Amino acid sequence: MQAWQFERYGRYDEVLEWVERPVPEPGPDQARVRTAAVSLNFPDLLICQGLYQVRAPLPAVPGVEGVGVVEAAGPDSPFEVGQRVVSFNNEAGMLADCFLADRATSWTVPDHVSDVQAAALSVTYGTSYYALVHRARIAPGEVLLVLGAAGGVGLAAIQLGKILGAEVIAAAGSAEKLEVCRENGADHLINYREGDIVEQVKDLTGGRGADVIYDPVGGDLFDQVKRCIAWDGRILIIGFAGGRIPTIECNRMLLKNMSVVGLAWGMCVERDPATGAKCQQHLYDLLKVGAIDPVIYRRLPFAQLFDGMRLIESRELYGKVVIER
Ligand SMILES: NC(=O)c1ccc[n+]([C@@H]2O[C@H](COP(=O)([O-])OP(=O)(O)OC[C@H]3O[C@@H](n4cnc5c(N)ncnc54)[C@H](OP(=O)(O)O)[C@@H]3O)[C@@H](O)[C@H]2O)c1
Repeated sequence: MQAWQFERYGRYDEVLEWVERPVPEPGPDQARVRTAAVSLNFPDLLICQGLYQVRAPLPAVPGVEGVGVVEAAGPDSPFEVGQRVVSFNNEAGMLADCFLADRATSWTVPDHVSDVQAAALSVTYGTSYYALVHRARIAPGEVLLVLGAAGGVGLAAIQLGKILGAEVIAAAGSAEKLEVCRENGADHLINYREGDIVEQVKDLTGGRGADVIYDPVGGDLFDQVKRCIAWDGRILIIGFAGGRIPTIECNRMLLKNMSVVGLAWGMCVERDPATGAKCQQHLYDLLKVGAIDPVIYRRLPFAQLFDGMRLIESRELYGKVVIER
């Protein structure tokens, strides 16, 4: 089979090559899937550089989220040849003609879900659903501040936040991105490149601050927003797209009765596949009735992978980029 492979760590456009690679054989609880579509995620940039939390043995293939049709099933695989399956794999490997789908982090795809929707749904909506429901236990009427709100997980957090009855403040870095947030249900918009985000959140909440802050950015932005959390508030630590892992003073947590809550979605699903499968089904049901809809910024063929990676790197995109085979 052919695959986008790297033999050493570095920038994607310096290390990735389209090469011949052995077809992977499915082991116990696995199936081999013929790739139809792969969505790009922020970690794909880090994976090529060897900076992601999980490092696959070299030579490796990026791509953590893909969909396709099962062509071979290993012993005890829950999937049958011919079934359409979407899969997440922290060790990547999906930007190839085929990939291996593990039982715990793969799900069949109903007919009403297209390949592109399936490829774009699991990580972003799974993460935002777990974060808001299981970790923050957000309640109707609470104020939700979403940072990096036009990114993949951010737009999912806006859509799900509205379904869960929250008042959503979207914060992003351009007017164009904020317009997309508004179209996806945000009640209030803050451009964090213009003015003080803390003052704007306080103005919007009558001085109270946000009950839940969804933070996939970290760095300087986290340092600011920890000052506009409401009493009893929860800050969700989703990721560090801004590049720096921030810290927080415990006295600040005490004085605000606040919680700083981490989430590792992939590991949650691996540890509790039954809850992961229930969540995935719930997301499919929400998609069916039009309550959620992944925003697709661009669809590209495999040959144009670098264009997709460049969109993520440049921060130009909103929503998802999907690479189709
Ligand atoms: N915890 C989990 O289980 C989990 C699951 C999925 C993803 N994540 C993490 O969540 C983060 C966001 O993922 P995503 O897929 O939503 O990424 P994305 O689509 O690329 O969005 C990231 C957003 O972060 C903002 N940003 C701020 N500083 C940035 C910088 N220096 N470089 C790039 N973006 C920057 C950008 O918005 P503005 O330009 O508007 O500022 C961008 O829209 C990543 O760190 C990812 O690893 C975590």
